[in-house]
Amino acid sequence: MTDTPEKPRSHGRLRITPSLTPRALMEGPPDLARAWRARVLTLFPEAFPGTLGLSLTGKALDLGLWALDVIGLRDFGEGRHRTVDDTPAGGGAGMVLRADVLDRALQAARPGTPADRRLWPLVYLSPRGRPFDQATARAWAAGAGVTLLCGRFEGVDQRVLDHWEIEEVSLGDFVLTGGEIAAQAMLDATVRLIPGVLGNAASTEEESFAQGLLEHPQYTRPAVWQGRPIPEVLTSGNHAAIARWRHDQALALTRARRPDLWARLQARIPPET
Ligand SMILES: C[S@@+](CC[C@H](N)C(=O)[O-])C[C@H]1O[C@@H](n2cnc3c(N)ncnc32)[C@H](O)[C@@H]1O
Repeated sequence: MTDTPEKPRSHGRLRITPSLTPRALMEGPPDLARAWRARVLTLFPEAFPGTLGLSLTGKALDLGLWALDVIGLRDFGEGRHRTVDDTPAGGGAGMVLRADVLDRALQAARPGTPADRRLWPLVYLSPRGRPFDQATARAWAAGAGVTLLCGRFEGVDQRVLDHWEIEEVSLGDFVLTGGEIAAQAMLDATVRLIPGVLGNAASTEEESFAQGLLEHPQYTRPAVWQGRPIPEVLTSGNHAAIARWRHDQALALTRARRPDLWARLQARIPPET
């Protein structure tokens, strides 16, 4: 183990661009310097790109439509053992990630990020945070990038959140072991909204939450399965009738399953707000 922190590991086109000189974070081929960028701080860098390296998000990463820098928290740890955590002040179970260690990692993650947090949010994945939703994914995708701090153990020292004015965002009302799965879920939802990542852009306009509605049911071949036929209207070729049927189904599903979304629709509150 060396005394100097390792360079953040970058994924995507950088991983197939041979270079003897370590590249600074926002340098690199011009297309990658402009690409939407995710910067993830984690105790487990090997967890990335994980599922983000597969399928459409993985292909987009390889094509340089977005870029991923992974910063290992252990590199900024204290002493010979690179200690990153300590016992909670006031007692209690578990360990807490240290403010001074996280501060060093956050300093390393800062180069090239705009000061305007609307363009590049700084986020701690946390069950206490504001719930992540499609509007958040859309807002993040419209910016230049995002920095995500993954917690572990009992979480992070509150002072680093206050000092850096870090926004807390939650994947849902449950407790994960660490922030890595939440980071990948949020990045997946965000990256697929970056222009060019999905082959068919129309698919994001019709899917769940786009219009404040859940999506209508989908069917494909075979025409009859286990005695269940595809609804007749879908094979009628009547596009107006199909659109009407899908909209009615979306309304019925939203009303039955999501009274919160339904109330917003009734009150004509746009899904973005
Ligand atoms: C075991 S959890 C800590 C939970 C914390 N002691 C609490 O009760 O709020 C460890 C880490 O997992 C991540 N995490 C857990 N649940 C999450 C959620 N629902 N959304 C986002 N991140 C979560 C956070 O980064 C957190 O620091």
